[in-house]
Amino acid sequence: MIRVALIGFGGIAQLHRYAYWYHNRAGMPVQLVAASDPNPAAFEGMTKINLDMPGDIVDELPFAKYSDWRQMIAEQKPDLVDICVPTLLHEEITIEALKAGCDVLCEKPMATAYEPAKRMADAAAESGRSLMIGQCVRFYPQYIYLREAVADGRYGKVAGASFTRVSPLPMWGGANWRRENIRNGSSIMDLNIHDIDVMQYIFGMPTALSCRLESRTTPYDYSLSRFNYGDYTVEIDSAWLDEKAVFNMSYAVEFEKGTLRFDGEAVTFTADGVTQDIAMSGAGGITTEIEYFVDILANNKENAENPPEQTVNTMYLLEKCFESGENGGIILETAEQ
Ligand SMILES: NC(=O)c1ccc[n+]([C@@H]2O[C@H](COP(=O)([O-])OP(=O)(O)OC[C@H]3O[C@@H](n4cnc5c(N)ncnc54)[C@H](O)[C@@H]3O)[C@@H](O)[C@H]2O)c1
Repeated sequence: MIRVALIGFGGIAQLHRYAYWYHNRAGMPVQLVAASDPNPAAFEGMTKINLDMPGDIVDELPFAKYSDWRQMIAEQKPDLVDICVPTLLHEEITIEALKAGCDVLCEKPMATAYEPAKRMADAAAESGRSLMIGQCVRFYPQYIYLREAVADGRYGKVAGASFTRVSPLPMWGGANWRRENIRNGSSIMDLNIHDIDVMQYIFGMPTALSCRLESRTTPYDYSLSRFNYGDYTVEIDSAWLDEKAVFNMSYAVEFEKGTLRFDGEAVTFTADGVTQDIAMSGAGGITTEIEYFVDILANNKENAENPPEQTVNTMYLLEKCFESGENGGIILETAEQ
């Protein structure tokens, strides 16, 4: 049995908690045994965030509750530590947990910048433990379908792509951590990163990029990035909007034979004026990502779909976006790290 300890019991942790319960009930060898959060209120109810919350958790096995994650790791000696705290804390906790001999699942963004992300990947390699970053969009069926379509060429070559992600400005979360620090929670760090990561996963590394950053209501709450792939360009935009906005993620990818679209609900392919629906099945990204990581740990498999070296590349691209955006959108060349 893989014994899991969650660090941070706020918004996104509720989806992780649900996934452990769901997979345990389905017979996977995984169980949540402890959680830590310095805020006692975190254990009293479910923080509502911008994503659909999980269904009811029934017959959950009891788990120990801590205010101090170091004490929790020392006492519980978990096999897997799952980190759901503000991004600023990801590096420190990941490295200590790896050194304590635990495998680690850490929420995205991997870290606040490229250098700490690299240190985290290096620490994982040195420790011999497994580290995976919660870049959950890689595990949504709509993006898996796109990746397969690009890889097997069923619609011909790619001619261009755009990805969009909008969300109401986050009002949840202790101490407004997202709104106070651009490396913790600006739209480019918190939203755009999902699409930069999935772009890199699907299309590989671009050769150049440029980025526009705007502060409309809060610092860098809007970002628009363009990535050069030689024959085509990928455009990614994301925004924190007002509280009336509804979270949505979408894409449109032009292929030689037509356009594949995901509008947040349905995936369609349009060619010669005819649009056909493409059926999707599967659970949400976080439930599937946790199933994937547990399977890797339980069965000693290679992490082919989401290794930390790839998420270090995502952080490198993000760092370049900051550099471009803070210098008037200049074009910067990029290279694999
Ligand atoms: N994969 C996704 O789609 C997704 C969505 C939302 C958030 N996230 C990521 O998850 C992380 C957390 O975001 P959130 O929205 O859940 O934030 P949140 O503020 O709702 O929850 C964070 C929790 O961490 C706790 N915390 C703070 N310091 C701690 C410490 N030292 N030890 C233990 N707990 C501590 C806080 O008290 C809070 O309960 C961020 O990195 C964020 O980018 C990912």
